[in-house]
Amino acid sequence: MSDANPHISGRALGVLISGRGSNLQALVDAVRDGRLDATIAVVISNRADAPGLVRARDAGIDAIAIDHRAFPSREDFERAMIGELRGRGVSLVCLAGFMRLLGRTFLDEFQNAILNIHPSLLPAFPGVDAQRQAWAHGVKVAGVTVHLVTGELDGGPIVAQAAVPVRDDDTPETLAARILIEEHRIYAEAVKTILDGGWTIEGRRFVRG
Ligand code: GRF
Repeated sequence: MSDANPHISGRALGVLISGRGSNLQALVDAVRDGRLDATIAVVISNRADAPGLVRARDAGIDAIAIDHRAFPSREDFERAMIGELRGRGVSLVCLAGFMRLLGRTFLDEFQNAILNIHPSLLPAFPGVDAQRQAWAHGVKVAGVTVHLVTGELDGGPIVAQAAVPVRDDDTPETLAARILIEEHRIYAEAVKTILDGGWTIEGRRFVRG
């Protein structure tokens, strides 16, 4: 058993995105509505044209693009992000549709302090296009997972999940749309759980005190 919280000493979030940013918007709304006692200190996108950057700026949040292609190595890219995040006092990083794998440099800096949201009931259907994978497999219950990020793709300790029944007449798109509603609901709740503390990691289990 280990106390997994000493790395998270404040309530400043950094949100990493690559695209649409609807989960970012859900976090913005939760902070604004008082459901989540936190500050979004910065939004970073590895793509300058990510619509999520516009959402962030519209909400008055510092939003910057850091193009991974501009760096000679993953490590250099990650050091640049770490500098922006730590420079703004970020203690918890939320991945919200961030489409780059994180390496040791970033994972070691934010140990047990990176969350990701994935649109399947992990460990089923990791990787890209998870909703379509679930639909094509024919599962009757799909869903969403929020987990701590480790070196294993979509494999870290599970903080929260929500189930979404699959209908016979679903397409991958209709299923993804219903999963997205649950994503927006549970991400803010999971961030709150992490910030409120009192949890531990036992083996690969996330356990609330
Ligand atoms: C979401 O489905 C999320 O679960 C996955 O990527 C998608 C991002 O969507 N990791 P958005 O950019 O938050 O709208």
